Amino acid sequence: MITYLEEAGQFQLDTPNASYVLTLADEGYLLHTYWGKRIAPQDLSDLLRLNDPPFVPSKNERERASFMDCAPFEYPCAGIGDYREAAFCLQNEHGARACDLRYVSHRIYNGKYNPRAIPHTWGNGCESLDIKMIDAPTGVEVTLHYTVFEGIDAIIRSATLENCGDRDVTLVRAFSASVDLDDDRFEMISLYGSWARERQAERLPLRHGKQRLDSGRGESSHQYSPFFALVRPETTEQQGEAYGFTLIWSGDFTLQAELTQFCQTRAQIGAQTDDFLWRLSTESEFDTPEAVLVYSAEGIGAMSRSFHKLFSDHLIRSDYRYIERPVLINNWEATYFDFNLEKLKTIADEAAKLGIELFVLDDGWFGRRDSDNCSLGDWTPDERKLPGGLKPLTDHITGKGMQFGLWFEPEMISPDSDLFRAHPDYAVGIEGRARTQSRAQYVLDYSRRDVRDAVWEQMKKILDSAPISYIKWDMNRQLTEEPYAGYSLEYMRGVYQMLERLVTEYPDILLESCSGGGARFDPGMLYYSPQIWASDDTDAKERLRIQHGASLFMPPAAIGSHVSVCPNHATGRVTPFETRANVAMFGTFGYELDVTQLSEDERAQIPEQIARWHSISRLVRDGCLWRLGNPFRPSGYAAQQNADYDAWIFVSADKSEAVFTYVQITAEANMKSRRILLAGLDPDADYAYTIRGTEDIKSGAYLMQCGVMLPNLWGDMQSVQTTLQKL
Ligand code: GLA
Repeated sequence: MITYLEEAGQFQLDTPNASYVLTLADEGYLLHTYWGKRIAPQDLSDLLRLNDPPFVPSKNERERASFMDCAPFEYPCAGIGDYREAAFCLQNEHGARACDLRYVSHRIYNGKYNPRAIPHTWGNGCESLDIKMIDAPTGVEVTLHYTVFEGIDAIIRSATLENCGDRDVTLVRAFSASVDLDDDRFEMISLYGSWARERQAERLPLRHGKQRLDSGRGESSHQYSPFFALVRPETTEQQGEAYGFTLIWSGDFTLQAELTQFCQTRAQIGAQTDDFLWRLSTESEFDTPEAVLVYSAEGIGAMSRSFHKLFSDHLIRSDYRYIERPVLINNWEATYFDFNLEKLKTIADEAAKLGIELFVLDDGWFGRRDSDNCSLGDWTPDERKLPGGLKPLTDHITGKGMQFGLWFEPEMISPDSDLFRAHPDYAVGIEGRARTQSRAQYVLDYSRRDVRDAVWEQMKKILDSAPISYIKWDMNRQLTEEPYAGYSLEYMRGVYQMLERLVTEYPDILLESCSGGGARFDPGMLYYSPQIWASDDTDAKERLRIQHGASLFMPPAAIGSHVSVCPNHATGRVTPFETRANVAMFGTFGYELDVTQLSEDERAQIPEQIARWHSISRLVRDGCLWRLGNPFRPSGYAAQQNADYDAWIFVSADKSEAVFTYVQITAEANMKSRRILLAGLDPDADYAYTIRGTEDIKSGAYLMQCGVMLPNLWGDMQSVQTTLQKL
């Protein structure tokens, strides 16, 4: 998978359909040479244009600056004539910023380097390349790590920095990856959003200058996601080139693309913002998180499927990535804070009757938490609501044959809590400055071990007190008043340590991470939790967009997705119960409502929905997703699309079965039936399927080239779901 052509000084990483090539040029510069469709190893150095006017050879000392400002550097350095965005920047004690990395040595080996104490890809069947470089004046060594896994079109990059010099330096920037692409014919797909409106996809042409998205919030955020793709203007879901980038990290990040004076594109991703400063004292080391780079010549869909496969096979560690997960019911939208033992039991009894398998008790069970104004940090059951603690409730629930799950928000502390009264210093803050509240809470200083231990002891007591088989780990605010430069990185490492402790000591617990909906919906969290609550917006129509956006880089089986009541609590919209379930099946599938309040008709649909889910969930978990529609408004990302419907199909790896879902978002009067071309099937096989009671058999070729006919359905948000069985 990795070759080195000594004569040409060329490293080549090959994945099934792509090649990534680097060249060791004169004077030890490492230059990016090619990234695209797979090509046989050969000398590609003329692509570097080293003899092309106005470019000049690096040996030409007189014009070195013009070389520095146009050469395609693999890990560009600040302060020495490359005025594009740097990937690496060091600062000395006077605040002077410059560095100049030159090649020292390299190593190609089986296995991979794992960044220490942070989430990373893992597993057998991989090969790696390490290239060591040095900034001679400071003695700082940088090792660039590259890994490819067998059978997956993805390249994993990270960097380790080691101060081997005799003076401390400050790290101003250390991105995980930077790539210089040779032209400017790109559009950028990125994700923006807000609370309850996460992961809205946007697609806009690159223009000269810099286009950047970032988070300095201490979380990957609702507002932007650590993902972007550069695609050709003609690229669609199934055709054309797409270059995707993401980061295995849950905190601050920057992603950017810069279109340069020579109409080339520099694309970068790293786990920090411009405010980052890190003291790299002598003999200390620093690992960047891993970036994942995916090239697809077959559209945006194939790019997403490469991310999905890599993350399912080599990032998620939980056994639940391949096994059936229980269908849950969560009481948040059913009761909010207003519950007691009797009410919970009534909901649980009805849920058990309908075949729901896991009961999740959300916020409000601890301290004196009747609203979100207090008690975070006091993880003891509220005897007023739960006399005798959790045990009577869990006994009742397990007695009904259901599992039990519990909500925690372990990173937070309410000013009105016993923990804060005893330890006000546990909250993140700057001495002499008031702390900013958000949702009436402060953030615990997770960079401190004693603080983490204090929370851990409380959590452990609860986990050992009752049969808890699921945890929802929430995080409902952003960082403010960070006490020192680089703090948010230390904070994130502390969170990862706690999560590591949890999954190591309680490996059988199904963990669902959450952050005020989807503010930490990122690959970093996947390392610990196989599913992540995607949004507090459970409206089926809005979920089409949120889930489509999320699936651009995250596996659909990781998308926490529930059926809730109508009028929807976030939008007031009324949609059919059946469609709410069909949409929630693009994800984990569960319920978040009071089953006792449903109509008889709705209640009657639940056992069938659960049975259907169990028959198709393997396809959602292990199959390939093909997005066939685009629910975004007809602007930006969906310029050429029809936002009146959405459709998708999950196809098993052997193409023997599939599940197809179609949603008519808006009904139109006097409209013809709609023809949807399926994808991903075996063209030569026949498939049996049923649409609205009508059985049919068609070949894969027919279904993909001629399509299926969907009747004009009566009303908005009507939907159809069918399995397709190969005959
Ligand atoms: C966050 C979560 C919700 C719910 C509430 C409880 O907003 O996203 O699902 O758990 O907190 O306070």
